Amino acid sequence: MSTHKSIDIDGAMRRLTVPDIRARKRRDGAEPLVCLTAYTVLTARLLDAHTDLLLVGDSLGMVLYGLDTTVGVTMDMMVLHGQAVMRGAKRSCVIVDMPFGSYQESPEVAFRNAARIMKEVGCAGVKIEGGAEMAETVKFLTERGIPVMAHVGLLPQSVNTAGGFKAQGRGDAAAEKIVQDAKAVAGAGAFAVVVEGTWEPVARRITEEIDIPTIGIGGSPACDGQILVTEDMAGLFTDFKPKFVKRYMDLGSGLAEAARQYAEEVRSGAFPAEEHCFGVKAKDKS
Ligand code: KIV
Repeated sequence: MSTHKSIDIDGAMRRLTVPDIRARKRRDGAEPLVCLTAYTVLTARLLDAHTDLLLVGDSLGMVLYGLDTTVGVTMDMMVLHGQAVMRGAKRSCVIVDMPFGSYQESPEVAFRNAARIMKEVGCAGVKIEGGAEMAETVKFLTERGIPVMAHVGLLPQSVNTAGGFKAQGRGDAAAEKIVQDAKAVAGAGAFAVVVEGTWEPVARRITEEIDIPTIGIGGSPACDGQILVTEDMAGLFTDFKPKFVKRYMDLGSGLAEAARQYAEEVRSGAFPAEEHCFGVKAKDKS
C-alpha cells in the first residue's frame, strides 16, 4: 500500500487532495508519485490502495472503445467513466481528462465543460493537453476554482497535426519548446504536469526548472512521479506497446485462457455443475 495516503486528525484515512499532490515535488530522495489510469469501478477499486492519483484518461477511447485515436472521445464518455471511477476509488486523488474539442476554443468554453465534469463527477480536477498556447486557459480555470493538471511533450489529441504518436523534443529547438511549454503551464497555475514521450534530458530539465510535480510517461525516472495506462501495464491492451510501457503481467492471456476453459466446459456439459444451480438435487441429474 502507498505510504502517502493522508490521515485525518481522528486517524481516518482520507482522499488525497490536489494540494497533497502539488506538495509532492520530489526533494531529498522523497518517493515518486504513483499514478495510473482507471476507467471503471472495478479497476479503480483494485488500484486505489496502491496509487496516489488515478487519471480517468481519454485513452479510454482507444483502450475501451477501440478508436484509433483519442480525438473521438466525448464529454459524456468522460463524465460516465469519471463517475464510475469515483465510486470505486476512496483514497486516490481522481483527475479527469478533458476530451478533444472541449477546451481548445476559448477559456470560457473550457470553463463550462470543466465545471460540468467537476459537478457531475465530483473529481478533484481536470487534465488538459498543451503548453504555452493553453496557459491562458489554465490560468482562467485555476483562478475560478478548477485545479488543472497540464500535459506537455507528446500530445495524443494532436496526433493529426503531429502525423502519429512520436516522441517529442529531439534537437535543441524542439527540446526548448517543451521546456518553455512546461514553464508556461506551471506559471499559469497548473498543480502538476504530465510529461509524455520526450527525451530524458528534456524531462530532467523540466523537473529541475519548474516547482510543480512532473509526472512522466515515457519521460524517464527524472520526473517527480510516473503514470502508465493500466491496461498497458497489466498486459490487457496489446494492440501495440509503446517503448515506455512495462508489462507487469499478462492479463490478456489469462482472460483468454479463462474464456477457453469456460467454452470447453459449457460445450462438454461440465459447467454449470450441481453447486452452480438452484434447487437441483443430485438425483435430478441424468
Ligand atoms: O489519456 C491518458 O491516459 C493520458 C495518460 C497516458 C497520461 O493522458
